[in-house]
Amino acid sequence: MNSQAFISKCLQEAIQYENNNMIEEAVAKYSKACERLTLLANECKISNPLVYKAIYEKTVQYIDHADELKKNCNHDKLMRLVNKKSSDFISYVPTEEDEPIFPIQYPEKKMEDIIGMEAAKKTLKTALTFNEQFKNLLGKSKNIKAPRCILFYGPPGTGKTLLAESAASFGNSLLMPISCSDVYNKFIGESEKNVRYIFNQCKFYSQQRNIVLFFDEVDKLIPNNTSLESSVNARVLQEFLTQVNSCDDYRGKILILGATNYPQNLDGALTRRFEKRIEIGLPSFDERIFLLKELIRCDGVMKSNMTEDQFKNVAEKTHDYSNAELQTIIQEAGTSVVQTCAENNANISDHVTITYQDVLSACKKIKPACTLEMKESIAAFTEKSGSKENNE
Ligand SMILES: Nc1ncnc2c1ncn2[C@@H]1O[C@H](COP(=O)(O)OP(=O)(O)OP(=O)(O)O)[C@@H](O)[C@H]1O
Ligand SMILES: [Mg+2]
Repeated sequence: MNSQAFISKCLQEAIQYENNNMIEEAVAKYSKACERLTLLANECKISNPLVYKAIYEKTVQYIDHADELKKNCNHDKLMRLVNKKSSDFISYVPTEEDEPIFPIQYPEKKMEDIIGMEAAKKTLKTALTFNEQFKNLLGKSKNIKAPRCILFYGPPGTGKTLLAESAASFGNSLLMPISCSDVYNKFIGESEKNVRYIFNQCKFYSQQRNIVLFFDEVDKLIPNNTSLESSVNARVLQEFLTQVNSCDDYRGKILILGATNYPQNLDGALTRRFEKRIEIGLPSFDERIFLLKELIRCDGVMKSNMTEDQFKNVAEKTHDYSNAELQTIIQEAGTSVVQTCAENNANISDHVTITYQDVLSACKKIKPACTLEMKESIAAFTEKSGSKENNE
């Protein structure tokens, strides 16, 4: 989603929350929008001063409005929803010792919402509860330690981002998701300094809570040494490697997670920093059956009259489909049932029953995105440098 779409989504949600008298949620959304508006304004500060001024003035209006709303807020609830610094963003100039500028969140997604993937969930749980669980061993053993860095790699739509973002729901942790714009934003500072800030901020916050520091699409964020286009990328990579090393004393408090579709493109030294490299592959036959059933069961409205054999047939036809694509099939089937009811002026009751035929026709419309080439290069990486955890 681009910045403008993100901002307008935040603002729409804020207004909706406000109309429904959900004040804390509204303030959180206004703050998020203001954060992005400020970044957007600063991007065009030099190139287009008029646009900068217009965005700036609008942002101030939203901040004032959010400040008004804040007077009637439950402070604790708000703090759980909003990045503390959001509304101070405009005047905020970070220093290394200073308070956070990068996003720190309570995890919105929960592990319970993820279907299957038990082995990866267990690895994350162990990493984030390690220090608590093995208190009496801390600092004594040279070998028995919580992992510092874990990489999830695999085809698109297999749940890597979902898994990493919900990891923080273990061990009362906070989530710090980092994107390219956080690192390469000219307004905030030089890119390699931003990397240092990110880690400093993490260390600072880890005094209070465990932190999951998540670098999504890490191959884009920290490009390979051989394809470095500029000295900026080289300095970012170097700083990242140094900072990951500096987190050794923070094992069990800071968990660094990375996700990528292209593990083979990562710099060698960077790959080695990830002590666990876990393939999150396309779902197996049994996993597809499980996922299809669970997606319907957890929906709340949908039901299915499909037999076991029919589920098996669908699973056979969806070889190479990702979790996200299976989810789209179920969405497509459900939506078409509702549409047909509406077209026939039939009553739509509390439950929508999808049939084998509905699912089959949805399968025909949705095609798997993972190419043979991608599958092969991921398999080659697993063979050489990664691992595949068994979910059974
Ligand atoms: N195990 C799962 N349980 C429930 N939903 C899932 C699962 N895996 C994926 N999904 C659904 O698919 C969507 C996409 O997953 P996600 O963004 O985590 O994939 P990804 O592996 O990060 O893909 P990409 O490589 O393209 O970034 C999720 O938002 C979720 O709706
Ligand atoms: Mg992802």
